[in-house]
Amino acid sequence: MKNVYLDNNATTPVLPVVVDALLPFYQHAYGNPSSIHWAGREVKGAVDNARQQVADLINATPQEIVFNGCGSEGDNQALIGSYEMLKSNGNHIITTAVEHPAVLDTCRYLETKGACVTYLGVDSEGMLDLAELEAAITDQTILISVMWANNETGCLFPIGEIGRIARKHQIRFHCDAVQALGKVAIDVAECGVDLMVFSGHKIGAPKGVGALYVRDGIELESLIHGGHQEQGRRAGTLNVAGIVAFGKACAVAQQQFDDDVARMMVLRNRLQQGVLALPDVTLNGHKDNRLPNTLNVSFSFIEGEGLLLYMDMVGIAASSGSACTSGSDGPSHVLAAMGVAEAVLHSSVRFSLGPQTTQDDVDYVLEQLPPIVDKLREMSPMLEREFSSDCLVVECEIDPH
Ligand SMILES: Cc1ncc(COP(=O)(O)O)c(C=O)c1O
Repeated sequence: MKNVYLDNNATTPVLPVVVDALLPFYQHAYGNPSSIHWAGREVKGAVDNARQQVADLINATPQEIVFNGCGSEGDNQALIGSYEMLKSNGNHIITTAVEHPAVLDTCRYLETKGACVTYLGVDSEGMLDLAELEAAITDQTILISVMWANNETGCLFPIGEIGRIARKHQIRFHCDAVQALGKVAIDVAECGVDLMVFSGHKIGAPKGVGALYVRDGIELESLIHGGHQEQGRRAGTLNVAGIVAFGKACAVAQQQFDDDVARMMVLRNRLQQGVLALPDVTLNGHKDNRLPNTLNVSFSFIEGEGLLLYMDMVGIAASSGSACTSGSDGPSHVLAAMGVAEAVLHSSVRFSLGPQTTQDDVDYVLEQLPPIVDKLREMSPMLEREFSSDCLVVECEIDPH
């Protein structure tokens, strides 16, 4: 059976060149980069190089990169570390209702510590109203936190414009760019962010390494205490192999950016065209203003989870939303915020392509999907309900009483 992996927003396969780059650090290059002897110096050079590679991809300086364990850690530090630093100036944070749980749950945690959080809504295409954002600013506002690309729908927010608003009001601006890295051109100098979060496993590096961009001059509390690593911003012996891998993945992403983005976009559009040609399938998210690799659709009368199981049986891996929320019974908070109708809220599936996705993969999905959809609809209690409610309407109309 063919295996097709279309869940790259959940995680990506580690690139072979990245494996080659990291292996020496599990073999002979075992030193601690904080040690001053030859073994430490050998790996310190590799960490410095990786820091430069990550910085280059986003037009930062190496000193502005803090390596950490994952995107969730970066979001936690950006929010909690900023709140701790700025709470004497005010307690108000502005974010959106469609952020990843790494931001939303951290905001809820900060509410228990005295923060007051505004969760901005989005329209039916997943877009923000910037006038609403600006109007939400008060003299207590200390932080704006808005993601660059939504992990479920791929919708893009105008980070440069939000950065300008934040600058105008002199408010710190954090952006979760975990899904944007490698798929959107990021220039931290241009877009006016103070803090930005990235995760290695979303761009071909292994799990367990992330990076937090901290603009020069921005003060931030550390979440982890006990050492002076990362300029005192993240204590703990560095994950050298992971960091080297992340650096290499960033270098590859920079080198191949135009080709990868163009290829993913062509294949995503091919998939989109085929899937939307099926009856009663709707696109979730903005038609154009979206990541080049993401397609989120609702299949009326079908449970998304059921569709995922049937696709899995023929080797197709997709997702019903974010990896972190699939497995929970609740509907997607992102689609709910977009006002997606209750009837199709549970019918959504996210396909997310990667640079390794081929036209064969897409065509295989387009071949396998229609019979699965037909079969599930035949079995669907949702469809039966729909028909029986139609019948009731007809009966009522002919009944004179
Ligand atoms: C937008 C976004 N932010 C944060 C995260 C968390 O990243 P990590 O898995 O590295 O903790 C994810 C992961 O899916 C994400 O999509």
